[in-house]
Amino acid sequence: MKKMKIWLSIFLLIIVTVGIQAASGLTPQEELGKLIYFDDDLSVPKGQSCASCHEPSAGFADPDSSRAVSQGAIPVRFGNRNSPTAAYAAYSPDFHYNMTEGMYIGGQFWDGRAANLSEQAKGPFLNPLEMNNPSKLAVIIKIRNSDYADLFEAEYGTDSLKNVETAYDQMAEAIAVFEMTEVLNNFSSKFDQNLTDGVPLTEEEQWGLELFNGKGNCSACHPSEPGPYAAEPLFTDFTYDNLGTPSNLGMLGDSPELMDYYPFYYRPIAPKFNPDRLGFVDYGLGAIVNDTNESGKMKVPTLRNVNVTPPYMHNGVFTNLTQVVDFYNTRDNVSAGWPMPEVSENVNTDELGNLGLTDMEVAAIVAFMETLTDGYVP
Ligand code: HEC
Ligand code: HEC
Repeated sequence: MKKMKIWLSIFLLIIVTVGIQAASGLTPQEELGKLIYFDDDLSVPKGQSCASCHEPSAGFADPDSSRAVSQGAIPVRFGNRNSPTAAYAAYSPDFHYNMTEGMYIGGQFWDGRAANLSEQAKGPFLNPLEMNNPSKLAVIIKIRNSDYADLFEAEYGTDSLKNVETAYDQMAEAIAVFEMTEVLNNFSSKFDQNLTDGVPLTEEEQWGLELFNGKGNCSACHPSEPGPYAAEPLFTDFTYDNLGTPSNLGMLGDSPELMDYYPFYYRPIAPKFNPDRLGFVDYGLGAIVNDTNESGKMKVPTLRNVNVTPPYMHNGVFTNLTQVVDFYNTRDNVSAGWPMPEVSENVNTDELGNLGLTDMEVAAIVAFMETLTDGYVP
């Protein structure tokens, strides 16, 4: 009798597993990661998931572009950085120092402080400015009570949810595995379809691509050709640079408008999260590797889906793509009146700052970047 029950459950498990895979095209582990990624019961209070700040329709970034930074599960809390896209992050190599090149490469977050996707995925649940759970245990208890607890145990073993430490790591792994699927790495933009199926770019888009690779020098850091990490172009080399991006304070001034756009400076309710208030400076990679030669450097972001992920830069200081290209074009032109960099050490003056692009050339580069949005239908 007992044997029959075991066989029956194995049989049911196979049916469920095959069923899930057939329905979504994802393996059970990928499907598990997907369910966790979209589960908005996993925050305190409930209501926020990974997808809240990395939403498919917004290029896997925050759909709310009214602020530079994202709102936490506790609505009066905000982080200090703009939510980047989670799409294509899977291609970033593990954070490392490349001896030959003499530079840091890869990792996750603007400053590379998480080595890889599964390390990254462990952060948001416990971050008081994001999903705000008090402990790993609190997260795992919710997973034990979730609809997909069976799927978790089928993947990681019957007692897997009993051990909080390993279950937490397994949860992060499942999320990472989901982030590696074609759901987030779709390569279906007009640009891709141009490469694979010859879908034509307009004259302006084509010209924009030439400027992107040429006069604009964009491909020096956002390569438009396949590189070492993928068979398709990723539009990032996963290195770090200080572009001299202005602080929000410089751009918007010390005004109520700024308070609303970049609440991190003020945060009247919980000053412990930013004791420096208006004096807050984001040193990026420099703070992580504890080296002033890296101060102000941020990881080069992919430009895939960039048109649907405003605002821009680590601090969300720019609200549209024209402004970004204008900045690259005229940063070093005093009459352009760009504010001081957030971090004035290590600013890259070799590859940008005075490109001499005309307004039409700037517009063409923007038009080209607009071809990088996934799901293009000719
Ligand atoms: C409240 C908004 C918010 C939530 C919720 C959130 N994130 Fe993020 N995410 C961010 C921000 C902001 C950053 C950049 C932070 C930094 O660089 O310090 C980020 C960075 C990332 C990155 C790094 C991308 C890159 O190119 O470096 C990945 C991947 C990611 N998040 C995935 C997730 C996953 C998975 C979850 C759920 C477990 C999640 N995020 C929950 C806001 C959020
Ligand atoms: C020297 C390397 C380098 C060059 C050259 C470069 N970029 Fe960037 N790009 C970066 C880095 C680093 C960031 C992030 C900077 C920050 O957050 O402060 C960035 C950010 C961006 C962003 C914002 C993306 C987002 O999701 O917030 C856009 C758009 C962009 N670059 C487009 C371009 C274009 C167009 C060119 C050419 C005109 C260009 N870049 C040239 C390194 C570079």
